[in-house]
Amino acid sequence: ASLPILPGKSTLVQQYTGNLIKGPEGTLVGIPNSYLGPLVHLQKGQKVRIHLHNKLAEPTITHWHGLHVPAEMDGHPRYTIDPGETFVYEFEVLNRASMNIYHPHPHEITAKQVYHGLAGALFVHDGEEAALELPSGEYEIPLVIQDRRFDDRNQLLYVSGMHGMHDRMMGYYGDRILVNGLPDYTVDVDSRAYRLRFLNGSTARIYKLGWDDGTPLTVLGVDGGLLETPESKPYVMLAPGERLDVWADFSGRPVGSQLVMRSLSFSGVLPKMMERMQSRMGGDGRHQMGMMGGMMHESALPVGSDYPIFTVRIKRKVSESPALPKQLSKINRYSVDDTVNANKPVPIAISEGHMAMLLNGRPYAFDDVQPNERIPLNTVQLMEIFHAHGEGGGHGNSQEKGDMQRGGMGMMGGMNMHGGNEEGGMMGMGHRGGMGRMGGMHGGGQGGMMGMGGGMGMMMSMAHPIHLHGQSFQIVSRSLAAGSEDDYETVRHGFIESGWKDTVLVMPGETVRIIKPFQDFKGLFMYHCHNLEHEDMGMMRDFLVE
Ligand code: C2O
Ligand code: CU
Ligand code: CU
Repeated sequence: ASLPILPGKSTLVQQYTGNLIKGPEGTLVGIPNSYLGPLVHLQKGQKVRIHLHNKLAEPTITHWHGLHVPAEMDGHPRYTIDPGETFVYEFEVLNRASMNIYHPHPHEITAKQVYHGLAGALFVHDGEEAALELPSGEYEIPLVIQDRRFDDRNQLLYVSGMHGMHDRMMGYYGDRILVNGLPDYTVDVDSRAYRLRFLNGSTARIYKLGWDDGTPLTVLGVDGGLLETPESKPYVMLAPGERLDVWADFSGRPVGSQLVMRSLSFSGVLPKMMERMQSRMGGDGRHQMGMMGGMMHESALPVGSDYPIFTVRIKRKVSESPALPKQLSKINRYSVDDTVNANKPVPIAISEGHMAMLLNGRPYAFDDVQPNERIPLNTVQLMEIFHAHGEGGGHGNSQEKGDMQRGGMGMMGGMNMHGGNEEGGMMGMGHRGGMGRMGGMHGGGQGGMMGMGGGMGMMMSMAHPIHLHGQSFQIVSRSLAAGSEDDYETVRHGFIESGWKDTVLVMPGETVRIIKPFQDFKGLFMYHCHNLEHEDMGMMRDFLVE
C-alpha cells in the first residue's frame, strides 16, 4: 500500500531548502510542491552572479556539476561556508547546451544534504540547440529521478543507527521513487513529440530506463549535451549524476492510453550477496526483512528489480508534431594520439578500504595531491578508471583492507551460510550489526568464514559512477575482466559512448578509458564516485591543474 507522502511537508526538508540560491532575474523556475531547488536556465556566454546563503545549521557549498568554471567557483569543499555566511559565485557560462546539476559539496555531508533536498537542475542553452527547434516550453519535460525513504509520518529517513555503516558502504537506497520531488509522477501529454530531460539525482540508485511497451529510447544527448545524431537504445543505464536527453514521440497513440517509464531488471551492480538478499526481500518477501535486523531496511526496493518510475498519459489528440532532426551537432572525437600521455594513462583506481572508500589507494584528504594527480594546464589526458582489487589486491594498506574484506565478507558469508535457516543467521547478524562497530562485523565474519571461497571478490565488486569536475570528457573504450560477463549482459546495451560525458558508470570488472581536456583554469578539480555515500566515505580525490 502506498503511503500518502508529500515530501514538501517533511520538516527535515524544510530545514534543508528554503530558497538558498538567489540568481539573476528570470533564470530560476520553481517546481510547484517540490522540495527540489528551482530549475536554473542559463545561456552560453552569459556572465552570472549567484548568491548562496547558508541558512542551514551546518556548513555547505554548492557545486555546478557539469559546468566548466574556475576552480574557485566550482564549489570545492575548501570553499565551504558556515551557517549564516554567503558565497558569491561569478562565472561565465562556457558550456554548450546541456542539462547539469547543482548540489552541495561539503566534505562528508554531501549525500545527506542532497538527500534532504539540496539539489536542482541547471540548463545551459545555446544557438546550436535553438536552431534545431527541438520541442520546448511545455513540450520539454525535466525529469529529476530520486529515491527516498519515509517513516509513517511522512518524514524522510536517512542513514542512521545500526544500518549506518552498511548504508554508507553500499549506498543508501530508498523505497519510493520520486520524480521532480513528487511521488507517483504522472504527466499528461499531447499526441506529439516531446523532449524529456532526465537527471539521476539519487544518492546511490542506478536505473535502467526503458518504456514498458518495449519502445526503444531515442537518445538526443547525454551529460555534456547533444550527440551528433540521435541513437536508438533498447534501454539506457542512468547512474547518479548522469543526464539523458530523450526524444519521445507520442503521435499516433490513442487518447486515454498510457506509457510507463520503468527501471528494468538487471544485475551486477551490488556485491552478489547483497543482490540476492535484496531480491529475496523485494515484493512479497518483505516479512523476511525483520529477521535481517542489522543488515537492511524493511521493504527495500531492490536495485536492479523492475519497477515503475513515472507514467505518461495521452490526454489530447493533436495533428502536428515536429520531426526528429537527423543531425544534431558536430563532435570532434579525440583520438589517443591527441593526448600527451598515450602510453601512460592517468590512473583512477577504485578500491575499498577500512571503513572507507578509496581512489588511487587513498581516502579524500585536503592538500594531498599525489604526483599522478598533477595535470599540466592546457593538456589533453588519457585516463584509465579501473578496479584496483581483483587478483592480487595489493596496495598500501592491504592489512586494513584485508580486515575489511574478511569482516565484510564474513557478514555476507554469514547470510549465505544460513540460507537454509535464515532466522538463526539473520538474528545473529542483526545482533552484531547492531553494534555498528567493526568488531561486530568481525564477529559476524568469523561465523561466515565458510562462505569465503567465492566470496572474496564480492564485497569488493560494485558498480561506481565516476565523476570528474571541469570539462567534459569522451569515452574511448570499455573492457571487461573475465567472470563478469553474465551480469554485464543485462546492462551492456545501455551505455552511450558517443557524446560528452562528465560521469561514467564503471561496472564490476570493468576498465574504462577516457580522454579529458584540462583547459583554461588552474587549480583543484575533484574527481569522485557519484554514489554520494561513497563520496562521503572518502571516494574522492583532487587533480591539481597547474
Ligand atoms: Cu555532482 Cu563533485 O559532483
Ligand atoms: Cu561535479
Ligand atoms: Cu562508488
